[in-house]
Amino acid sequence: MMDKDIKILAIESSCDETAAAVVVNGREVLSNIIYSQIDIHTMYGGVVPEIASRKHIEKINQVIRAALDEAKCTLDDIDAVAVTYGPGLVGALLVGVGAAKAICFAKDIPLVGVHHIEGHISANYIQDKDLKPPFMCLVVSGGHTHLVKVVDYGKYEILGITRDDAAGEAFDKVARAIGLGYPGGPKVDKLAREGNPDAIVFPRAKISDSEYDFSFSGLKSAVLNYINQAAMKGEEINKADVAASFQKAVTDVLTEHTMAAAKYYGMDKVALAGGVASNSSLRNAMKTACNKAGLALYYPSPVLCTDNAAMIGSAGYYEYINGTRHGWDLNAIPNLKLGQR
Ligand code: KG4
Ligand code: ZN
Repeated sequence: MMDKDIKILAIESSCDETAAAVVVNGREVLSNIIYSQIDIHTMYGGVVPEIASRKHIEKINQVIRAALDEAKCTLDDIDAVAVTYGPGLVGALLVGVGAAKAICFAKDIPLVGVHHIEGHISANYIQDKDLKPPFMCLVVSGGHTHLVKVVDYGKYEILGITRDDAAGEAFDKVARAIGLGYPGGPKVDKLAREGNPDAIVFPRAKISDSEYDFSFSGLKSAVLNYINQAAMKGEEINKADVAASFQKAVTDVLTEHTMAAAKYYGMDKVALAGGVASNSSLRNAMKTACNKAGLALYYPSPVLCTDNAAMIGSAGYYEYINGTRHGWDLNAIPNLKLGQR
């Protein structure tokens, strides 16, 4: 541990949130400013990349200004800038990377590029100040479904990924099909509370050659077929039952894979991360399973689950103390792999 506090300015612009934060020693959040573009993208039923980039360039400086003001500091107090450089929408990422480079260049301070998923995982370090690796982490967001063994800070082993849709993407598509709008996850979650999760049996995909991989496109198609068939027969569907049954199918698979991996790798801690980690059914199923297996469960508060810059500040701190420094040639990498430099 270093004796001097390390204050990191973090920037996140990989999708539809323009965000900046100031984080001390990877754990203490002095500010966490998020400008969400959701209202604009809702009109189109999903994120429009070109619009996202344009909104980021409009908002980025205000968001950084607000993060510094709320943290009661200036750029002179900042030790390094951490920025998401992938994965994500290239035009969106470039705005954050450009802003971070400009600050580092002007102030002559280190630039630390951060992997977006490493950020999601690190949100747990902010939520629980005592959480330390190793642990098993299920990362479930709009763009990613990864089962990750967190070996150490900044050291990851990917055990499973989705073969097709991400979990959050499945939530968004099903929400659209039953007329709930974008982003669908929280709306499905809410409606499912009024439905019966056992009303309809939707498929739980198994991938024969990889125990921990996921697949959600078959489930999504099954839900769409169910809705279409009812429409053809002129039957009214119970939307709450569809939402609850779909959600249970997703939750069952996520929970089973995570628990199996935790057991196999002898982990005594399990963490959830990403937007879908705030899903109430997933949290409940994981709580029950972890209680039964005697494992500790961690998950961030909803604001730290969805995209934010505080999580990038936490991940950036551990990268910083591990010696990660990026040069002036840092670029946005839309399909950056976890662990890639
Ligand atoms: O982590 P995130 O902000 O973005 C990505 O990095 O992709 O996650 C957004 C995703 C969206 O698909 C959204 O529908 C989903 O997280 N989500 C939820 C819930 N809250 C957000 N899905 C299910 N239940 C929720 N309560
Ligand atoms: Zn994300």
